[in-house]
Amino acid sequence: MGWPFLAPRAFRDAPASRALVHVIGKAGTLSRQSSLVGQRRITVSEDIFARLKQDHEDHRELLDKIAETSGESEERRELFEKFTLDVKSHAAAEEQALYSTMLRKPKATDDTRHSVAEHHELDELMNDLAATDMSSPAWLQKFKQLDHDYRHHIDEEEEDHFPDFEELLSEEDREHMRSVFDRRKKAEKADAEITPEKMEDAKE
Ligand SMILES: [Fe+2]
Ligand SMILES: [Fe+2]
Repeated sequence: MGWPFLAPRAFRDAPASRALVHVIGKAGTLSRQSSLVGQRRITVSEDIFARLKQDHEDHRELLDKIAETSGESEERRELFEKFTLDVKSHAAAEEQALYSTMLRKPKATDDTRHSVAEHHELDELMNDLAATDMSSPAWLQKFKQLDHDYRHHIDEEEEDHFPDFEELLSEEDREHMRSVFDRRKKAEKADAEITPEKMEDAKE
């Protein structure tokens, strides 16, 4: 085949207008033009799931870095705030771009409700952590819980939910969702805040 990422069905489904963009200015044979279009159609970076996984990787890295910090340090505060603001805007945009659609699909309703409920729990954990003295043993204990729960959440999205969702979406859906996600994440990030709030049953 020559192009390992080609998906023949994807190319057949490619809108004519998009195919034209690639044909213009490309002086190759018809098969080369087709390959270019086919390759473009499933470039992984344009897919909502690739985009979400990219954020998840950043979040895993931030959790690793926070775990290496200690006490009431500027580094710990900055990394924790960066993590919180990015996760909050990621989760909100993920709900707007992906989960809102999946909620309307009966086969995906349970997974969607589960994930959105976890977003809420994670929000509460981050707020509680922000309200806790960073130099206290309680902060580390709560951070370990957040680290565990967040990794569980994104592992489950990547391993269980996203593969199931992919079956229910067209490539056009996935590309459109990516552009909605990018737009919404930017807007959510601009409004995101650290909101310290103790959980009712929080230990201190
Ligand atoms: Fe999520
Ligand atoms: Fe996510």
